This record gives sequence, C-alpha cells and structure tokens, in this order.
Amino acid sequence: MTIRAVVKGVGHYLPERIVPNSEFEQTIETSDEWIRTRSGIERRHFVAEGQTTSDLATRAAEAALAHAGLTADDIDAIVLATSTADLTFPSAATMVQARLGMTRGFAFDVQAVCAGFVFALSNANALIVSGQAKRVLVIGAETFSRLMDWTDRGTCVLFGDGAGAVILEGETGSGTTDDRGILATDLHSDGRHKDILYVDGGVSTGTTGHLRMQGKEVFRHAVEKLAETAHAALDKVGLSGADVDWIVPHQANIRIIEGTAKRMQVPMDRVVVTVQDHGNTSAASIPLALSVGVQRGQIKPGDLVVTEAIGGGLAWGAVVLRW
Ligand code: UT7
Repeated sequence: MTIRAVVKGVGHYLPERIVPNSEFEQTIETSDEWIRTRSGIERRHFVAEGQTTSDLATRAAEAALAHAGLTADDIDAIVLATSTADLTFPSAATMVQARLGMTRGFAFDVQAVCAGFVFALSNANALIVSGQAKRVLVIGAETFSRLMDWTDRGTCVLFGDGAGAVILEGETGSGTTDDRGILATDLHSDGRHKDILYVDGGVSTGTTGHLRMQGKEVFRHAVEKLAETAHAALDKVGLSGADVDWIVPHQANIRIIEGTAKRMQVPMDRVVVTVQDHGNTSAASIPLALSVGVQRGQIKPGDLVVTEAIGGGLAWGAVVLRW
C-alpha cells in the first residue's frame, strides 16, 4: 500500500495594487523595454500599507479551502513557505491558523526563499506519507516589496507580492506513476553561495534590511541547477521530459524559464508562465502559477506536473506530481 499526497484544492490571492513597468521610469533610470526584454516582467502587485504576508496567505488559504470544498476544521497541519513573515516570530503559519479559526493541529513556516514552496511541498508530503497528518494546507506567501531598495534598479523592478495555496490529502495509491499525488521530490542547498543573493538585515543587525543580488551569477546557477534537479526528480520514478504535461517553474525570469524548458526538451506551450503579470513573488510564485494554470484550463486532473525553483541559500529543488 502506498500513501500519496494528492492535491484536493488550489487558490491564490494578489493584492489590489498593480504596478506597471512604466511606473519605475519616473523614479530610476530604467525602461519598460529593458525590464520586459531582460526579465519578461510587465507588471507586478504590491501590498497596501499595513497589509501583511499573513493577510495574503489567509486569503489564498480560504480560496484553496473553498476550491476543495473543505473547511479549516478538516486541516491537520499548515506549512507556510515565506521569507517575509509579518514578525520575526511567531510564524506566519500560526497567524494564518488563528485567522482561519483552526484550533487543532499544528502550523509552521519553511524558509528556503524562492525555493520555499518546493521545500514546503516536500515537507507536507513527508508528513502525510509518514502518517503524521492526513490533510495539509501548503501555502507560499510573500511581501518582497518590503525588502526592496527602491534605488537599486538591478532588483527593485523584479519582485512582487502575492500568495498561493494547495491542499494535500493522503490517499491510497497503487505505487505506480499512474497514481495521482506527489510522486518524487529532489531538494538541494549550498550555503557557500550566500553572498550572491541575501537580505542585509535581520536580528543580527536590528534592521529589516534590503535584498541584494548579483543577478548574473544567480542566473548562471539557475539555468544549470533547475534542469538538473527537475531531471533528478523525474529519474527517481523512471520518467523523463517527454512524460511531462506541464512545467510549473519558479517565475523569476522568462529567459531562465525558457532555458530550463529547453534543457528538459519540453516545448514552451507546456510551461505555465505568469511572470509577466506577477514578477518574482519568491515562495508564492509556484502556487500562484498552479492556481492560475488551473483557472486558465491548462492544468487538468491526471496531468503530470513538474515544479522547480531556486533562490537564496542557494536552495533549489523540484517536485513531480500527478494533478
Ligand atoms: O528568485 C531568485 C532567483 N533570482 C533570479 O533568478 C534572478 C536571476 N537574474 C536575472 O534574472 C538577471 O540577471 C537580471 C534580470 C537580474 C539582469 O539581467 P542581465 O541580463 O543579467 O543584466 P545585467 O545584470 O548583466 O545588466 C546588464 C546592464 C547593466 O549595465 P552595464 O553594466 O552593461 O552598463 C546594468 O547596470 O543592464 C543594467 N541594468 C538595468 N538597466 C535598465 C540593470 N538593471 C537595470 C534596469 N533598467 N532595471
């Protein structure tokens, strides 16, 4: 008997304010044309004053619960991927737990920056497969606008705010790759690369800090490592790029997305792309893309989906699941 963590619902929430590339032309030396051609981004959403990561996460969680036809009482655990929790502690996950009116079970944050949702999915899968939880709410939620240095044109035009969520439920499967649910995961990190992508604040500095990135270096690692981890995850269950219905990649840069799809020999019409509308929302980008992909009618039950992401750490990984 094989227990599979099967997706029962998906949802997302984006803050109301939409900021087009042209808005940055007024404050820094940049252009809509540069941002579009170098990153694929056309617009992004930013939170309103006072709106927090747990606010976005709660809205996304409610949407996923409604989609699954479940209530918070049906959930055993919340795993929330974020690097922008409202406070240093408690976790944003416990704040969402309270907001949903959930008084049983447990909730915690996962911090693996842009790879956070892949790490959270893998953790939730482990909880389900080991029998520690039957239904897990997995959320990716971020307010990266709070980490921007608005004078640094190399970073401030790239990021956005948002949240997405999925509900995983344990089901008995046959043990073959025909099963619905998570089929394989592949996680990595290498702390030697801290200096190419980090925030220069935290409890050691007494400040929130700003995101600092050597874009070209991160780009180089991304193109190499993303296809590698996606292939490794597929290999674990004897599948290849030819079996993939949808790549749902981390949405950082269209050129990285295209480069990874090419290396996996998957055509772009089998890749869910939302980077033009959301920018890079870090741990929220994959659940946002999953939710939008379902809304668009792209991802359907039974489809083989591969998610892959890389971010600060460096931390990177992939999850293969049948929707
Ligand atoms: O989610 C975590 C993972 N993060 C990523 O995956 C991001 C990875 N990196 C990237 O997506 C790309 O490296 C960027 C989009 C950040 C930059 O693209 P690039 O092709 O690597 O450009 P670059 O950094 O080499 O910059 C090229 C030029 C530079 O000018 P010079 O030195 O050639 O004169 C930059 O100063 O573009 C300049 N530049 C800009 N120009 C207009 C940098 N930012 C801007 C800007 N507007 N916003």
